[in-house]
Amino acid sequence: MKLAVIGTGYVGLVSGTCFADSGNDVTCVDINEEKIEQLKNGEIPIYEPGLETIFKRVRREERLHFTTDIAEAVPEADIVFLCLPTPPGGDGQADLSAVIQVAGDLGSLIEDYMVIVNKSTVPVTTGDRVEGIIGEQLDENLFDVVSNPEFLREGAAVDDFMKPERVVIGTGSEQAAEMMTTLYEPFVRSGNPIIVMDRRSAELTKYAANAMLATKITFMNEIANICERVGANVDNIRRGIGTDSRIGPRFLFAGIGYGGSCFPKDVQAIHHTAGKHGYDFQIVDSVMKVNEYQKTSIVRKMEEYFGTGDFNGMTFGIWGLSFKPETDDIREAPALYIAEELVKRGTELLAYDPEAIGTFKQATSEQVLANTTFVHDQKDALQNVEALLICTEWNEFRRPTIDSIAEELDNHVIFDGRNLYDLDRARETDVAYISVGRPAVNVKELEPAE
Ligand SMILES: NC(=O)c1ccc[n+]([C@@H]2O[C@H](COP(=O)([O-])OP(=O)(O)OC[C@H]3O[C@@H](n4cnc5c(N)ncnc54)[C@H](O)[C@@H]3O)[C@@H](O)[C@H]2O)c1
Repeated sequence: MKLAVIGTGYVGLVSGTCFADSGNDVTCVDINEEKIEQLKNGEIPIYEPGLETIFKRVRREERLHFTTDIAEAVPEADIVFLCLPTPPGGDGQADLSAVIQVAGDLGSLIEDYMVIVNKSTVPVTTGDRVEGIIGEQLDENLFDVVSNPEFLREGAAVDDFMKPERVVIGTGSEQAAEMMTTLYEPFVRSGNPIIVMDRRSAELTKYAANAMLATKITFMNEIANICERVGANVDNIRRGIGTDSRIGPRFLFAGIGYGGSCFPKDVQAIHHTAGKHGYDFQIVDSVMKVNEYQKTSIVRKMEEYFGTGDFNGMTFGIWGLSFKPETDDIREAPALYIAEELVKRGTELLAYDPEAIGTFKQATSEQVLANTTFVHDQKDALQNVEALLICTEWNEFRRPTIDSIAEELDNHVIFDGRNLYDLDRARETDVAYISVGRPAVNVKELEPAE
């Protein structure tokens, strides 16, 4: 099929590349001229494992094209994917301006029957709105608007796209459902389902999934906070409940809060949608509050350890800036909040991340930039610092043992927001090791009372 993908970010570029790999002819459109120029020159603007190999292959085979001109891509297409940003608007609702603007452009570009697919995460009834906008200019038999929410995870996006656990297609049109099923069949050969449902349910499915996952993480973070107060270990509890098949073992790792481009905005947006329709979605309201608290929990532990909230003149090392490993995405990353809070209190930072230094620099404040030295070897963040803070669970941070870190780390203190190291190993060192929901090691004052 001929496909047009409007919006060439994480979702658009991965979808476009993978659809081209399954034999389609894909044109990706973006308003960002620099990005399109880069892509035309064979440079990939995001870090996503596995993407480059497929990208090079489909470019060589001339199945993936790039343009800034929507009119070059849409008229020829059988299916148009909207992979546009839907960031949080002022009061938490999703900002749909890009989707609405592009919908307005589409009417005049459609000549033969075409399926318009919304892959962006959009509030329920957005499909109706898009249909209305296009319908103002066009006979409704010439197009269908479908919801096809995307569930890929950054850092594993190519794998997720190539082997989705499920594909959700929201439409009442048999013709559109058939075209979408044909398009996705190569990706579900191992038997995973393509679930066709009504459009509103499909839109809400995406929010329900993200709200559920954010709630699961947050629930474990609250259990961890209780563990710290009663002298229990959240790792044991995870094993104890994760073996219950009704609960399952995944997404039960305590840490310093969720971030990223999706969970925070989608949780806010579903809360807003519920409110707009007269329902107070209380669980997600709590999830948002707890997550805010959790993101700076490491700073409160530092206050407790140093016996003061005044860190003026101190220097800290930070490992991990991205919101999770295997991505350079720093949107809503806990490291952004922690760096801001520490620099406000007069500290200097030595920061290391395998991929996200560039994106972090673009997103953080002038004040953080002025007080942070970015280092390109993780060991360099251990020199002349009061403590090491671990904010992202990159695999390369797990590899050195805690004893080898201790050899390099000037003051033997680690605040680990991602529970990377074994407590028994830590006990054999002289490192003060303070993690999440587990007993603090080699720290007398922080060990809970019997
Ligand atoms: N990133 C993820 O992991 C992920 C996963 C599932 C769903 N989603 C959803 O997919 C959507 C896109 O997310 P993303 O992470 O790819 O965003 P992104 O910010 O990485 O990419 C969006 C792209 O759209 C372009 N754009 C903006 N306005 C445009 C316009 N009028 N015409 C053409 N291009 C335009 C931007 O320049 C940018 O390149 C969002 O709704 C998001 O919630 C994201």
